[in-house]
Amino acid sequence: MPFSTKLRSVITGAGGYLPEKCLTNADLAKIVDTSDEWILQRTGIRERHIAAEGETTSMLATHAARRALAAAGCNAADIDLIVLATSTPDYTFPAAATQVQSALGITSGAAFDLQAVCSGFVFALATADKFLCSGSHRRALVIGAETFSRILDWSDRTTCVLFGDGAGAVVLEARESAGNSSDRGVLTSHLRSDGRHREKLFVDGGPSSTQTVGHLRMLGKDVFRHAVGMVTDVIEDAFKATGYGPGDLDWFVPHQANERIINASADKLHISRDKIVKTVALHGNTSAASIPLALSVACADGRIQPGHLVMIEAMGGGFTWGSALLRW
Ligand code: UT7
Repeated sequence: MPFSTKLRSVITGAGGYLPEKCLTNADLAKIVDTSDEWILQRTGIRERHIAAEGETTSMLATHAARRALAAAGCNAADIDLIVLATSTPDYTFPAAATQVQSALGITSGAAFDLQAVCSGFVFALATADKFLCSGSHRRALVIGAETFSRILDWSDRTTCVLFGDGAGAVVLEARESAGNSSDRGVLTSHLRSDGRHREKLFVDGGPSSTQTVGHLRMLGKDVFRHAVGMVTDVIEDAFKATGYGPGDLDWFVPHQANERIINASADKLHISRDKIVKTVALHGNTSAASIPLALSVACADGRIQPGHLVMIEAMGGGFTWGSALLRW
């Protein structure tokens, strides 16, 4: 029935990449006045990966994209859209997405970066979804990639212990679907921003202000205080839009900033803790890369299977926050 069908964007493959160098909490205790015990207890983080000198965000992104393409069983030539979420691009311009496009040998279609800090992947997925559902593009690479190690103040123990580098990618493909909530693909997405919160999480440099890259500054307690309420709001929006509830989820894949935020959000929404995919212990907060990295881990180990209902959510600088509910 051609008139009742609808285009949905379906994730057909996921891939992740972490730089080789691993920095443990014990390593950090040699740099700043901190301890493994404090970091683990307050955040759940044990270690994080740090890009090598000269290893850029687009390089990490390209590795992840290649793995996502392999998992999806498609070629780079099949991609006509690249949306790369990052706050740490290789250069002020051109977009890191164009560097990935070039590294993959793609010479057609569109490639651009999107900046929503830790919510970047949710914003990028929702954006690519709109392109695919409009029929303008057929197959997208949606990537989250970051080298936050380059914008950390390594003398500030309140921030430098929290973040890591990495990249994750998914292949998103337009498919004809029945048009109901049993479809595979992105079922709904909910994006929000509120610029009044800039001072709570920002980088104190930039091309138009200081002509420097700057360092990340965060009022961690204030961010924490807002995080749980904001993410639970947009998750409830996704449930309302689809008629699904917490008991229907197969997997909850939240942004990986702090295990206490993840658990508090799940508990508030009555999402069972054994449905949470957690990678924060081994990755730290990789900002826009954290969700696609977690998706790639849970696909590779067989937890996420085709047909599974998966909720993703994130909150970050801006503030920005958002959710997407999708059937794998
Ligand atoms: O992804 C974007 C969103 N970002 C986040 O989600 C981060 C949200 N915030 C958080 O995750 C938490 O607020 C933190 C992990 C950043 C901090 O945890 P907290 O329980 O809110 O601790 P706090 O900031 O209240 O600090 C408690 C104490 C302070 O000492 P005093 O003032 O009580 O003497 C800090 O100076 O811990 C001290 N402290 C540390 N001690 C050892 C702060 N950082 C460290 C550290 N090691 N690395």
